[in-house]
Amino acid sequence: MGSRAQQLFVGLSLLLVLGAGATMCHATDAAAGLVPLPRSLRSGTGEFVAAERLVIYLEGDRSQLARPAALLAAGLSVGADAVPTQPLPGEIPAGALLLRLAPDRELGAEGYALTVRPEQVILSAPAEAGLQRGAQTLLQLLPVGGTTDKNLRLPCLEIRDWPRFPYRGMHLDVCRHFFPVTFIKRYLDLLALHKFNRFHWHLTEDQGWRIEIRRYPELARVASRRAETLVGHYSDQPHQFDGRPHGGYFTQEEVREVVAYAAALGITVIPEIEMPGHSLAALAAYPELSCTGGPFAPATKWGVFPDVYCAGNDEVFRFLEGVLDEVIALFPGEYIHIGGDECPKTRWEECPKCQARMEAEGLDSEHELQSWFIRRIENFLHSQGRRLIGWDEILEGGLAPDATVMSWRGVAGGIEAAQQGHDVIMTPGTHCYFDHYQAGPVGEPLAIGGMTTLRKVYGFEPVPGELTETQAKHVLGAQGNVWTEYIATPEQVEYMILPRMCALAEVLWTPRSQREWAGFQDRLGTHLRRLSALGANYSRGSFRVSVTSRYDTEYGRQELLLESEQAAPSIVYTLDGSMPGTDSPRFATPIPCADSFTLKTGLTGKGLSATGPQDVESMGPVTIVEYHHHLGVGSHIELGTAYATRYAGGGERALVDGLTGSDHYNDGRWQGYEGVDLELRFDLGEPRALRRVALHCLVDTGAWIFPPRGITLELAGEDGAFHEAACTEHTVCEDHQPREARRYSFDLAGQSARYLRLQVANTGVCPAWHRGAGNPCWVFVDEVIVE
Ligand code: ACM
Ligand code: ZN
Repeated sequence: MGSRAQQLFVGLSLLLVLGAGATMCHATDAAAGLVPLPRSLRSGTGEFVAAERLVIYLEGDRSQLARPAALLAAGLSVGADAVPTQPLPGEIPAGALLLRLAPDRELGAEGYALTVRPEQVILSAPAEAGLQRGAQTLLQLLPVGGTTDKNLRLPCLEIRDWPRFPYRGMHLDVCRHFFPVTFIKRYLDLLALHKFNRFHWHLTEDQGWRIEIRRYPELARVASRRAETLVGHYSDQPHQFDGRPHGGYFTQEEVREVVAYAAALGITVIPEIEMPGHSLAALAAYPELSCTGGPFAPATKWGVFPDVYCAGNDEVFRFLEGVLDEVIALFPGEYIHIGGDECPKTRWEECPKCQARMEAEGLDSEHELQSWFIRRIENFLHSQGRRLIGWDEILEGGLAPDATVMSWRGVAGGIEAAQQGHDVIMTPGTHCYFDHYQAGPVGEPLAIGGMTTLRKVYGFEPVPGELTETQAKHVLGAQGNVWTEYIATPEQVEYMILPRMCALAEVLWTPRSQREWAGFQDRLGTHLRRLSALGANYSRGSFRVSVTSRYDTEYGRQELLLESEQAAPSIVYTLDGSMPGTDSPRFATPIPCADSFTLKTGLTGKGLSATGPQDVESMGPVTIVEYHHHLGVGSHIELGTAYATRYAGGGERALVDGLTGSDHYNDGRWQGYEGVDLELRFDLGEPRALRRVALHCLVDTGAWIFPPRGITLELAGEDGAFHEAACTEHTVCEDHQPREARRYSFDLAGQSARYLRLQVANTGVCPAWHRGAGNPCWVFVDEVIVE
C-alpha cells in the first residue's frame, strides 16, 4: 500500500476521532453509506467495539492475505499508529478483526462475506480479490461524521456479496492531457473504493505518446511532447492555441509502480496502444512508419487525423511488436487494448505499399486491410499468451478470431460481436462517456458536448434486450471512459467522474433487480460526504434544479415543473428576479405561467454549497430561466418534419413553451433538424391581431449548425387560405459565424390571423469550406414567438 492511499484512508479514519455521532443498528443505518449496494445485507443488533489495541488476525494463505490486510490496516489506522496484523492464535480474541481465506463456491472470484458481531468482525472470502472488495465495504461502514469514541465501532450485520459483472472498468486518457503518477494512484484509490476491477490506461494518441519504450527512444523524446494546445472548444472558430508546450510520459519504473499499486487494490491495468489510427505522435518520431514519409508533429488540436501506420510496410509490424514486447513485460494482465478506432483509409487508398499488401493478401477493401492488420497483431499477442481488445471499428472487415470488442458507438457493435460469440465490454457514448456534460451546460466547465446526467448513468443497462441468454453471457461488463481533451487537471478529472462513476459502480456490481434510483439517491448523500472527507472534487451538477415546461390541457395553461436528482429535495424559487435563499418559497405544485417572468431556483439543504461547511443549511447552484409569455404559448402546433430525437428540446410543444435556449446546442431547449427543411403550423384558436412573429435559431457552424437559408411566413384567417406575409433568403455562409442564439423577426403590425405557417429552409449539407463538407448540416430552433 503506497503513501497516497494511506493518506486517503488515514484522512478518513481521523474523522472517527474528531466527529460526533451515535450508532444504532437499523438496516437503513447499516447500508446508509454503501455504494455500490451489496447483494445481501442483514442487520443485527448492537455493535462491535474494537479492543483498546485493534489487531487484524489472519487465517489462510499469507501470500493472498497480505495485500488485503495492508489495505484494511491503512484504512483503520488512526494517525501514525498502524494497526498490526498477525496470524490467528487459535480462538478469535474479543474486539478483534479476522481476515480469513476460506472456500465458498457461491461467492466466486470476487465475492466476500462480512460478519460484524459484538465480539468480533470476520471478513472472509475464497480469494484475495474478494477480501479486497470486502475491505472496501468494511471501510464504507465507518461513520463519515465520526464518533467521539476512541475505538473503532461498527454496526452489527451480515453481508454476503459478489458482483453482477466480471469486468467493471474505468478508463483514463493521459494523452490529450498528461497526469502524474501521484494522480494515477489517486484515481486507482477512487476505482477501488467503488469496487471497479479494471483500469484501462489510454497511453498513446495523436497528441502524445506517454509510455517509455526503450527500444524506440524517440517516442519519449519526440512523441511525448506537443508544441502547444488548442484553447476553447474545437467548434469555436477560428482555432486558437496557448503557445505552451505540453508533454510527459511514464518511465517503465513508474509503470511498474502503478501496476503494483493497482494490484494491491485488486485492480488489473489494461494498457492501450493505439493502432492503426490515432498514431500521429508516433509517426512524428518515426515518420518512415507512415504511408507518405512525413514529416509530422504531435497534434496540437483534437480530432481524427489522416496519417496512420502504413499497413503495407513490414517495418511497421516490427515496430509495433517491439513496442508490444515491452508493454507485455510491464503489464501482467491477460488483455492488451490495441485501439482500432477512427482510422481513416485515405492514405492507404493512395499508398502503393498498402495497395500491394491488399493485392498480395487478396483483400477487397481498405476495411479488410484494417481487419488484416488487427488479425496480424492478434496473432502476435496470442504468441505471447495475451488477448486483444479493440474499439468496435475492429468489426469492420471482419473480427479477429478471439477479439473482445469495446462497444463505444452505441451498443450496436457490442450486440453484433456478442451475436458472433465474442466477448464484449459496453462503453456507449450515450451513458458511459464521462467527458460529456452532466448538467448545464450553462454554468458548467467546458466539456466536449453531450449530456449524461447522473440519473442517465444509473439507468444504463449493459445487457441489451436483443441478446439471447447465451449471447448475453458475452457481455463481460461496462466501463466509464474519460477522454481528456477538455480535462486538463486532476481536479477536473474528479469532477467529471464523481459522482457518475458511483452510479456506474452500482450498475455493474449490484444485481439488476436490486438497482433502485431512490435508494441510490439516499445512500449517495452519505457517500458524497465521504467523498468530501477524502478531499475529492465531485460535481454538484446533480444539485441543480432542472426546469421543464408542460401544457396543462385541463386548466388550459402552460406550467413549469422543477425537479432534482437529489433525494427528497427541498427546491426553493423566486419569480421576482431576486436570488432565492434557504427561506424562499418551497416548490410543491407546478408554477402556472400567465405572464412573463424570471424564475430563479435552487436546492436547499445541508452541505449543498460547494464552498461552505457540510452541516449548515445552504443553497446549491441556482438555475435561472426566463419565461416569455406570448400568443403562441398554448396554440396548437403541428410539426411537418421530424426533429432529431436526441435534440428534442422538450418535444412536440417545445417551440411554443415560452422557454428559450442558451448558446449551447445541448442545453435541452434546442430542437434540432438534421439536413431537412422545417414546416411549422400554428393554430391560435381564433383570429388574433398580430404585432410580430420571431423565430429563434442557434448558429454554431463549428458544430455543423447553420443559420436557415430562408424563412417564409404565411398567414390565414378562419377560412384557412394562406397568403405570404414575409420572406427572407440568406446566402450560404462562406466562413464560420460567431456562436450565438439569433432572432429572425417579422413585423406584422396591422395584420391578424388564426393560422400561421413557417417554412424554414435548411442549408442541407455543409459547404465545401467546412470540415463536414457534404454531410447533412443542422437547423436548431427553440421558440417561435407570436406577439
Ligand atoms: C473513441 O471514443 N474514439 C473510442
Ligand atoms: Zn501505406
